[in-house]
Amino acid sequence: MKNILVIGSTGQIGSELTMELRRRYGNSQVIAGYVTGAEPKGELKESGPSAIVDVTDCDAIESTVNKYHIDAIYNLAALLSVVAESKPALAWKVGIDGLWNVLEVARKCKCAVFTPSSIGSFGTETPHVKTPQDTIQRPHTMYGVTKVTTELLSDYYHMKYGVDTRSVRFPGIISNVTPPGGGTTDYAVDIYYAAVKGETFVCPLREGTLMDMMYMPDALNAAISLMEVDPSHLKHRNSFNITAMSFSPEVIYATIKKYVPDFRMVYEVDSLKQSIADSWPDCLDDTCAREEWGWSPKYDLDTMTVDMLEKLKAKFNK
Ligand code: SER
Repeated sequence: MKNILVIGSTGQIGSELTMELRRRYGNSQVIAGYVTGAEPKGELKESGPSAIVDVTDCDAIESTVNKYHIDAIYNLAALLSVVAESKPALAWKVGIDGLWNVLEVARKCKCAVFTPSSIGSFGTETPHVKTPQDTIQRPHTMYGVTKVTTELLSDYYHMKYGVDTRSVRFPGIISNVTPPGGGTTDYAVDIYYAAVKGETFVCPLREGTLMDMMYMPDALNAAISLMEVDPSHLKHRNSFNITAMSFSPEVIYATIKKYVPDFRMVYEVDSLKQSIADSWPDCLDDTCAREEWGWSPKYDLDTMTVDMLEKLKAKFNK
């Protein structure tokens, strides 16, 4: 990877991935692609080039790729699970028509492509405990449908045209820079903001609801390490199970309470979020990622909690 385009650079993952790629490859080598209305700001804007790249506009992707001699695209444009249920046509347009555009440009211009999949690519029929790498993927959400299609289409472009497509199935990503929007796992981010602001957290999921999660630094490292590995090591491509931890609301609450003893949480279950969470795995088996490209997370729930609380306290002057 010499010149990199990040599509969706102002989103939850994109904003931090763009900065991490700039640290590793050089500021001018990494182009922050964004859509009108979600312009880069602050350090993201100042530290390197940016370009309007709407994933649904094939010509805009191609002209940016040609202008900056791009050889790797991180395609992060997507609607998250809850919002995709209320806007299924848009979720398909951005997630799949957009991916088609990215893959076509990559085929013509010889770019490598990373497009994340998710724990949302699994469904109720999937084994929920130690979910295997290769297993049943019959999701009941539009988000899941787009993610399974992402995996299939990315593998197809690799098999048929030799495009270097690679991907991971991200669990819920916890971060303190850009908030996520409209996901089922967002509660595990929101709970830290409530704890630091001294608010009671209203948990939208039932006690006992297990889902895989990961702290942002590990997620960034996963995306970059996978794209850097010698492809001869890869038996799989789209997509690898990865996880760092699995917890339920009462467990993250108890962990935060160790550091914020006055913190309170109450339950007010959101039926849509609960049904989505119930259809997803409790914990993934990520052995293939560990064996094929050396995946290994650094943060567990406790070390992540310490770091999240410290960063958010600094952010809100608490
Ligand atoms: N974080 C996503 C969501 O909750 C899942 O990958 O929609």
